[in-house]
Amino acid sequence: MKTKTIFHLFILLSAIFTASIHSQTKSYEKQIDSVLSLMTLEEKAGQLHQVSLSWATGPASPEGDKLKDIKEGKIGSVFNIRGSEKVRALQELALQSRLKIPLLFGLDVIHGFKTTFPIPLAESASWDLEAIELAARVAAVEASASGLNWTFAPMVDIARDPRWGRIMEGAGEDTYLGSLIAAARVKGFQGKGFGSVDAVMACAKHYAAYGAATGGRDYNSVDMSERMLREIYLPPFKAAAVAGAATFMNSFNDLNGVPASGSAFLMRNILKGEWNFNGFVVSDWASIREMIPHGFAENDRDAAKLALNAGSDMDMEGYCYRDNLKDLVEKGEVSLSNLDDAVRRVLRKKFEMGLFEDPFRFTDPVREEKAMNNPEHRKAARDMARKSIVLLKNDDELLPLKNGQKIALIGPLAKSEDDMLGGWAVGWDDNSDVVSQFEGFEIRFGKQNLLYSKGCGVSDPSKDGFEDAIKTAKAADVVVLSIGESRSMNGEAASRSNLGLPGVQEDLVKEIMATGKPVVILINAGRPLVFNWVADNVPTIVYTWWLGSEAGNAIADVLSGDYNPSGKLTVSFPRNEGQIPIYYNHFNTGRPSMQDIPSKDYRTGYIDLKQSSKFPFGYGLSYTSFDYSNLVFSSDRLSKDGVIDVTLTVKNSGDFDGEEVVQLYIRDLVASLVRPVKELKDFKKISLKSGESKKVTFKVDKEKLSFYNEKLDWVAEEGKFDIMIGSSSADIRLKGTIVYE
Ligand code: GLC
Repeated sequence: MKTKTIFHLFILLSAIFTASIHSQTKSYEKQIDSVLSLMTLEEKAGQLHQVSLSWATGPASPEGDKLKDIKEGKIGSVFNIRGSEKVRALQELALQSRLKIPLLFGLDVIHGFKTTFPIPLAESASWDLEAIELAARVAAVEASASGLNWTFAPMVDIARDPRWGRIMEGAGEDTYLGSLIAAARVKGFQGKGFGSVDAVMACAKHYAAYGAATGGRDYNSVDMSERMLREIYLPPFKAAAVAGAATFMNSFNDLNGVPASGSAFLMRNILKGEWNFNGFVVSDWASIREMIPHGFAENDRDAAKLALNAGSDMDMEGYCYRDNLKDLVEKGEVSLSNLDDAVRRVLRKKFEMGLFEDPFRFTDPVREEKAMNNPEHRKAARDMARKSIVLLKNDDELLPLKNGQKIALIGPLAKSEDDMLGGWAVGWDDNSDVVSQFEGFEIRFGKQNLLYSKGCGVSDPSKDGFEDAIKTAKAADVVVLSIGESRSMNGEAASRSNLGLPGVQEDLVKEIMATGKPVVILINAGRPLVFNWVADNVPTIVYTWWLGSEAGNAIADVLSGDYNPSGKLTVSFPRNEGQIPIYYNHFNTGRPSMQDIPSKDYRTGYIDLKQSSKFPFGYGLSYTSFDYSNLVFSSDRLSKDGVIDVTLTVKNSGDFDGEEVVQLYIRDLVASLVRPVKELKDFKKISLKSGESKKVTFKVDKEKLSFYNEKLDWVAEEGKFDIMIGSSSADIRLKGTIVYE
């Protein structure tokens, strides 16, 4: 390269560094224009090319090409590399390129980095937005200290189908709650903003409607009306964008026949148009190239053209952009302005992340060491975990366990450390720092009070362990039986057609119950399972999901009564797979089902099954009880710009201090389109000491009554609305009616 150009480049880049240090709030458009003006088409294509990079072991390694590509400025981002030392080395390689444009480093930090938090579906059951935000914040502090500046999270897909393994990654079935949680996670990851060194870019995924895959089969087609898309599936994405999410990720599915990676409707019309999103869109893993098997692109060149023109800015592991964009622009099939817009979006984030100012700012080994060993992080994980636990049954008030009882902890998940991490946990060679249930029980109840037997495997058909398990149960005062799925049965490409307890676990439960000993069932899973015999025959059941690094301690906190469970389900539990999809905010139909009896009299439903879910959305018990009373509306008439105060009293009428999630649902009784029998529109999680009462006030305005009408206008229509206050969607305690006029 001519000396003169290098000199100009040096002047330019030093101007960039100086300017950006002193003008954090100033936009970077001038700097971006300057860099863009120096870039060749190949370098521009390079910025839009992202590769997965396990650490290269040398020139012969498969990454050999990738390292060369980095050095030649043909890669804009890498992922699946972590650790400040490794990241620094790769950044140094990138700075050997002609323009020295730094790399972005991404990773799937979905529910924790080194400190693993509960799976997101479990976290959502806490209904505790602050705790959820803190969980993401802790993950960002740890990840950013390890060289990362981008997480491919939060996953904000609404999911109504537990056969879909990725239901574990989201916030369940409800749009209102899912939108609040999406925003909380984005804020947690991005913290004080991109300028701060402990912020990582968030990535709202998978855009869009991935959770509505046909049959719950991962990657499968999605077909729905635009109205349904806008009312149910898009709001969490919009909430993420409004919260400032730096990036979005395409979903694998086709939506109404158009693969999301090639959907200008989703990306140009809605995301970058209506929502004025100024971040960038990364494809999912080779999802651009996958438009070929979709039958939407003829070859990788065609895929690159369709995707770039539709608004997909970065090609993750697809190699379509790297190999074709230069030629597509030269031949006028991709406009230079579309290419430059994509590159500009990527460069903007690199400037905002401070990477031009200091490409090594995320690679401080001292900060890394400190972040990885912060006891506050474990404390936050334990708090999040116990708040995520849902008490499904406690009929005989067996819980909390009494001190000094001899406990037999039995089951295939009782000693597992790996499984406690759940799907999409960051992989570490050594998970010995995970507190298993056995370890948590030893700590809390004392080794002398604890017996153990595995009983059986998760999926293993062998009953050889039953005898020992029965003997162990008989030697104890109470049995805690830890059953469920293995973590490998959750997450991506893990759809299940049968949601029952795998293997011979149900047989084990029956054998242990036959001993006559009192039994507490722990169900470990990343989704709603079908466990009717257990649910109907065991009086004490706790849903413990996958609770992460502090699983054992959190479960012991709840079983001992040190923490009174407060979790509430955010997804409906089906009675069997035939009932799916099942969700609480369904339409009434012209022949509404009788919820708790098999269908008859020509009503909708099944003749061989009750219509209600096994456990409903918003459901979860406490060791105490809560009474709701004195529902008062400040008015029963709501004007266009008015607000009604809905006030009630909640009393803790039991013997334990506890927390209650008070839920507000509405129903539009008559509208220009049929409306759900109820919709969550607000909630408050309150703490009450035993015997204490509190006034709870909600505000209802027209926004809470609005929906997309047939013309896709967001409107509140005049008429009557039921306002319902419940302890779950199926446990409405108080109800009133207002008129919107
Ligand atoms: C996967 C997932 C996506 C993830 C990406 C990178 O296929 O669909 O959620 O972020 O690849 O690992």
